[in-house]
Amino acid sequence: MGRARRTWRRRGAPGCGRGVRVCRVDLDAFRALRAPRGVRMLAEVSGRDTGEASLLATVSALRRDHPADLVAAAVTQVRLRDRARAKFGTDADRMFFTPDGLEQATRASVAAHRAARYAAAADAQAGAGAQAGADAGRVLDLCCGIGGDLVALARAGFTVHGVDRDPLTVMVARANAEALDLARMVTVETGDAQATALDGWPAAFCDPGRRTGRQHGGKRVFDPAAYSPPFRFLTTLAAAVPRTGAKVAPGIPHDLVPDGAEAEWVSDGGEVKEAALWWGELATARRRATLLPGGHTLTDAGAVAESGPVGGYLYEPDGAVIRSGLVTEAAALIGARLVDPTIAYLSTDSPASTPFATCYAVLEVLPFSLKRLRGLLRARGVGAVTVKKRGSPIDPAALRRELRLSGSGHATVVLTRVAGAPTALLVERR
Ligand SMILES: C[S@@+](CC[C@H](N)C(=O)[O-])C[C@H]1O[C@@H](n2cnc3c(N)ncnc32)[C@H](O)[C@@H]1O
Repeated sequence: MGRARRTWRRRGAPGCGRGVRVCRVDLDAFRALRAPRGVRMLAEVSGRDTGEASLLATVSALRRDHPADLVAAAVTQVRLRDRARAKFGTDADRMFFTPDGLEQATRASVAAHRAARYAAAADAQAGAGAQAGADAGRVLDLCCGIGGDLVALARAGFTVHGVDRDPLTVMVARANAEALDLARMVTVETGDAQATALDGWPAAFCDPGRRTGRQHGGKRVFDPAAYSPPFRFLTTLAAAVPRTGAKVAPGIPHDLVPDGAEAEWVSDGGEVKEAALWWGELATARRRATLLPGGHTLTDAGAVAESGPVGGYLYEPDGAVIRSGLVTEAAALIGARLVDPTIAYLSTDSPASTPFATCYAVLEVLPFSLKRLRGLLRARGVGAVTVKKRGSPIDPAALRRELRLSGSGHATVVLTRVAGAPTALLVERR
């Protein structure tokens, strides 16, 4: 037991989230896992408790009858599958992962949305008589990773060719296509995206690596020039392939969006997940916000929003709407005004329903003063506050401490500027 514990610790490496011990996945371990004995091992581990509390006992028990490396590889895979369910749902239980590959993979909902855009463009082309037949149904997936986008494109009916420079990642992507019964639609090769022949492809997608190498701690890269391949490759790709899409970081500056391309910010469940760039027939707006799971989409139509006082209702736009700079478009849809020309809060006098913003009823509006806010909250018996802020320098945690509340009620306080003046709003989610 003592030896097992030491060995596991020595082999174990962080890399798949806080508090979760998973081994590094390497080529030999992955090959072994795909061989018949590994398949049986994985099936056996899948039925065991690999939670943090039981991990050592499970590993020790399995090692009595199986080689330590195979046990480690299978346990690692099962633990990665547990984590992957957040991105891939129950498909995760059949799929394969590396810690980095899972971290960087596109979640299934976003990948399906993207694949649907490729499918709609291909259908439109086929309807127009161009590239009809099998050829319109091919997509080149450069930097395919473990295949998050690859499998979504295959499920949308495309024949997909994936390219990734990492041989293990390629093996995992192939395994995922097989595991999800998509092998007939998918080929994957090890290679450099920048050296891949682009001629003749009707459609391409590229999801560049946005992390430093392991030797630099695998940190996120924010400078598009430091993507791998670098950002400029995306425009080369777009110039060569009629329907090109690419995934970029949601923080991409608007002025980096190439002329003629569409930038789309996608949120899922209210959380911004990514930005995508679209070229050619796939670019149908300059900027777009898409909200999943509903698929609501907003584009720039030149709306101008007035600023004005806070009315009975306050709206907090979805992050994709804010990142895409489409707050005024969201305002125009519900006849809302901005509470401050520089702040992304909207207001109306009567309630309006919109998928693009969360609506709150405004209970109180007061110029910001700690004393007045404390008095108001105490008078209402509030003991716990949710603090939302935009355009306010106040630290919510410090504010909560300074309020020294002790009531039993709960309230939501919005700290912002209204027509330039620091203001606190007491609101209630509708
Ligand atoms: C963000 S991940 C792709 C994730 C993928 N779309 C998915 O959903 O699983 C980026 C991938 O690009 C690969 N990569 C980085 N530079 C590359 C290059 N020059 N050529 C090919 N692949 C590259 C990395 O190995 C990594 O697997």
